[in-house]
Parts: sequence; C-alpha cells; structure tokens
Amino acid sequence: MHSYAARRARLLAHMPPGAVAVLPTAPEVTRNSDSEYLYRHDSYFYYLTGFAEPESVLVLVAARGSEPACSILFCRQKNLEREIWDGFRHGPEGARAAFGFDAAHAIEDLDGEISKLLADAPALYYALGSAVDAQVKLWLANVRRMARTGVTPPASAVDLLPLLDEMRLFKDADEQATMLRAATISSQAHARAMRASRPGMYEYEIEAELLYEFRRNGAQAPAYNSIVAAGANACVLHYSANNAQSRDGDLILIDAGCELDGYASDITRTYPVNGRFSAPQKRLYELVLAAQSAALQAIIPGLPYAGVHEAAVQVLAQGMLDLGLLNQDAHGGIADIVANKSYLQFYMHGTGHWLGMDVHDVGQYRDTAAEGKPSRPLRADMVLTVEPGIYVRPAEGVPEEYWNIGIRIEDDVLVTPNGHTMLSAAAPKTVAEIEQLMQQQ
Ligand code: GLY
Ligand code: MN
Ligand code: MN
Repeated sequence: MHSYAARRARLLAHMPPGAVAVLPTAPEVTRNSDSEYLYRHDSYFYYLTGFAEPESVLVLVAARGSEPACSILFCRQKNLEREIWDGFRHGPEGARAAFGFDAAHAIEDLDGEISKLLADAPALYYALGSAVDAQVKLWLANVRRMARTGVTPPASAVDLLPLLDEMRLFKDADEQATMLRAATISSQAHARAMRASRPGMYEYEIEAELLYEFRRNGAQAPAYNSIVAAGANACVLHYSANNAQSRDGDLILIDAGCELDGYASDITRTYPVNGRFSAPQKRLYELVLAAQSAALQAIIPGLPYAGVHEAAVQVLAQGMLDLGLLNQDAHGGIADIVANKSYLQFYMHGTGHWLGMDVHDVGQYRDTAAEGKPSRPLRADMVLTVEPGIYVRPAEGVPEEYWNIGIRIEDDVLVTPNGHTMLSAAAPKTVAEIEQLMQQQ
C-alpha cells in the first residue's frame, strides 16, 4: 500500500465506526496586486494525500458494519481555460486514479456531499478552531433540516490534530528517505557557502550560494527564512535582513535549510569568513561543539527528550565559568548557574525541536497524560534538531575578546532503535574540517 493510503488507514482505525473526518488543504495567499505567494499545501493534508493542489479537501469515513472505510477527495475540476494560464489540474477523476482515493468529487459539491455523510455519523473529526468551524455550522444546519427523515447530526466534534500530530512525530521509511535527502542538499549548500565566502562579501551574496544549491538539487524552497549573519549580527537570534557587509575577522552564522517534497531540513553552521578561526573564536566554537556532542550522546531511545537540552546546558555553563563569561564570585558554581539559569545571558534558547514537514514540527514534548507531565522519552523514528549556541553581547565583566561573537551549531538527527543517526553529517563542522575546506578555495 502506498504510504499516504497507509496513513489514511491508520487514522481511520483510530476513529469510531461511521465517524467522519474533514481536512482541507491550505488556501492560496495573495502577496500584492495580482501576485500570490508560492503555493504551499497544508502539512496535515499533504501527509494523508500527497496531493499538492489548492482548493482541496479530504474526507474520511470510518468503516461501519458491512460498509468499508472510505477516502474521498474534493478538488478543482479540470478547466482548459485555467490550465492554459496556471497549469495542469488533475480533476476529481484523474486525482482519484492517480492518488488512490475511493471516490473524488468537484470542490463545489463539498457542502452537499458532506451534509449527506454527516447524517447519522456518530462523530465529526476536524481541526477544532480552524476555518472549518464556520462550514461545520452550515453542514450541521443542513443535517438538522433532514430531521423529518429520521437522521441525526453527529453527537460530538473531536479535534483531529492530536491524532495526526502523534502519527507525524514518527517518521516512516519514505519520510526518513526524503528527510535525509533534504538534509544532505542543505549540508552541501552550507559547504558551498563556506567555499564561496571571502572577507568583504555581503550576507546576501553568501545567501545566494545557499539558494543556488537548494534549487539546483530540486528543493522547492527554503524551509524557513534563511539567517546569514556576519559578525555581531549573529547575536540577533532571528536575524533576517541579510544585507550587511562582512569584514575580515568576522564569523558568519548561517541557519538555513531547504524544504524538499514537503519536508524541512534545519542546519546551522558558523565559520570564519577569512577561513581561520581566531583564538577566542575557536575557544567559544569548541565549547559549543562540545555541548552539541554531549547533547547528541543523550539521544538514545528511552531517555527523556529534556535530557538533550540539559546535557548541552551543563557543558555550556561549565565553559562559561572556565572562559570567564560568568564568574564564580558573582554566580556561584556550576550547580548554582544551572539552577539559577545564569547561563541565559549567553544561551537563551532551547537545544532543539521536532523536525518534519514543518521546521518546528508537530508532536508533544511531554507525556501530557502522566502525572506532572514529564518530558516524554525519545523513541526510534523521531527526528529532532540539536542546536546549542552561545551569543556574547558586550557587557561589563565579560572579557572583551568574546564580545559580539555569536555561534550556533545545528544538526538534524534521526532516533534509531539503538541511538541516533545524523541526517546532516555532510555539512563540515569541526574547526579542522571547516578550515581545511576553506583553504581549498
Ligand atoms: N531555524 C529555526 C530554528 O533553528 O529553529
Ligand atoms: Mn535553524
Ligand atoms: Mn532549529
């Protein structure tokens, strides 16, 4: 069975007999005047369909008695005039045949068909609080108008997303293969940016190298706004201007990853624009690398997700003491620094997040059903980023040699039955690897 059909079958198996699920894709969005943003499907919808056309809705009906489960697609009709202007449309029959739905209808028929399906359905599953709310009102009114024939509307509405979030958190073989390819393209893009960098280049010139590598390998777009930050700009966590000129002696922090076939990659590398780390840069870089290494060692199935961050914080906090960023007289020992979170002055974000169709992917981080909601254990087939960093803004008591240095190292990691594998291993990372690559310029 194709993965999309298999995912639909798994979702349907979680629904009570005869229950109906409704899931629209994302709308097209105008950018300005007659121009639209590059269309991006809804991640949940695509996860269950593989269908990338706008104006589409998936309806699932769970098996009941002798009635088998049913997957129905509503989509745009074929339209020669529109296809001349905008390109190919599958049309309902073409989509049904190509994507393996049990039935397909024109999107214009959605309200009428759903109202029929909802008659006597025990429950309606959809994204509670989404734009579907308004349509549900109409559909229920339609079913109530049929009351004289003896039909009843669904007795309950259930949020569809928690079920899908949990499914999406565990990547199947097809997803893992796509994510490895996405991360590999992005790794090559980071290597290309390093090779191209020279003191005096503008951040956008370096960004262009990344974009070139993404597109020439078939990635559709960046998975999020690329950060290319020279020098002090690296201390702005969500820097996005990418328009400053680099100077000899700057570090360049690049946080950029492509989206390939609906899946994100998310990689950060930090390197000297002139190809050689200065001594203070190298000290901080080795510290962040050691923190990442400790965090990676905590990625073992069964260990809690939160342990990854805790491992990174331990190493970073100790390094902040050793390098004099924090001092013992003012901040106490390592235990105090961790307990009081004094490290937040230089490390103010988490060490990662789930990664998948969305760069900050869906899925709970805690076991919300358990007492006290503890951090959930890592399990095979989860994918997460590991991204410790250090950001030193000028401040009294902070050694000046570290001022305005911002460093982050971010990799994409798949949890395996015995540990983990790095999806972004092709991006140069150690001081020696980076300096060697940049000498080959
Ligand atoms: N680029 C977004 C993040 O690293 O989480
Ligand atoms: Mn990132
Ligand atoms: Mn990230």
